[in-house]
Amino acid sequence: MLKEVIATRYITPLREGGSLPGLVEGDDFAPYVMKFSGAGQGRKTLVAEVVVGELARRLGFRVPRLVTLDLDPVLGLGEPDQQVQELLKSSGGANLGMDFLSGALGFDPLAFTVSAEEAGRIVWFDALVNNVDRSWRNPNLLMWHGDLWLIDHGATMIWHHNWPGAETSAARPYDAADHALARFAPDLATAAADLAPQVTEELLAEVTAEIPDAWLTGEPGFDTPDDLRRAYAAPLLARAAVIHERIKRDQ
Ligand SMILES: Nc1ncnc2c1ncn2[C@@H]1O[C@H](COP(=O)(O)OP(=O)(O)O)[C@@H](O)[C@H]1O
Ligand SMILES: [Mg+2]
Repeated sequence: MLKEVIATRYITPLREGGSLPGLVEGDDFAPYVMKFSGAGQGRKTLVAEVVVGELARRLGFRVPRLVTLDLDPVLGLGEPDQQVQELLKSSGGANLGMDFLSGALGFDPLAFTVSAEEAGRIVWFDALVNNVDRSWRNPNLLMWHGDLWLIDHGATMIWHHNWPGAETSAARPYDAADHALARFAPDLATAAADLAPQVTEELLAEVTAEIPDAWLTGEPGFDTPDDLRRAYAAPLLARAAVIHERIKRDQ
């Protein structure tokens, strides 16, 4: 289970992104980037962050630690910014938090170099989870202490927005032409040979067990949170075996 932390203070919005994540302090006195259950696509974005972030971590990628952040909407009362106030008021209960990497720089493909091996692993992984949010315009990669860290996995697994069509949707190829790391000659064959066999049913069960029940209840067509957890695992298991043949790299 993800560690549970209580949000005690809203510090400031992180305005670079589209979903208005905020910097908050937890009852453990640590700073967290908070993603709100009341924002845009809401809970599904948070579920995607957990499934994809926790899978990435288990495959050896650097991902900031994830926690649940419990929010009392009264924290919004003192907020002068109307948009922030609305967001806090509509996000009572469990939200997603991640360790704030203080001083991290946004990755710039023109300023940093990445090895073909590391680029291959990241592109393969993004293809697996169908990440459409790692383009050179918006890499969602941070440089911190000289290493690349993966963030922002809310726009992945598009199939979870339409479960009846999930199988068809998950059979589609991945377009990597615009990927932030496309220019580093990603070694996809080596990445696939190493990573695909690690994406097992057991690993996916472990990863999906991390999703808080509160974000899974009430999904049409599913009786229990565990049914929905299995639905998250199935397309990833199916894609792991074949996706490296289905990555389009032409500009
Ligand atoms: N864990 C983190 N540590 C430091 N900065 C972060 C972290 N997560 C996000 N940020 C900063 O906040 C911005 C927006 O976060 P992101 O997760 O990309 O949300 P959005 O969905 O709004 O794009 C990032 O581009 C980055 O600059
Ligand atoms: Mg982002």
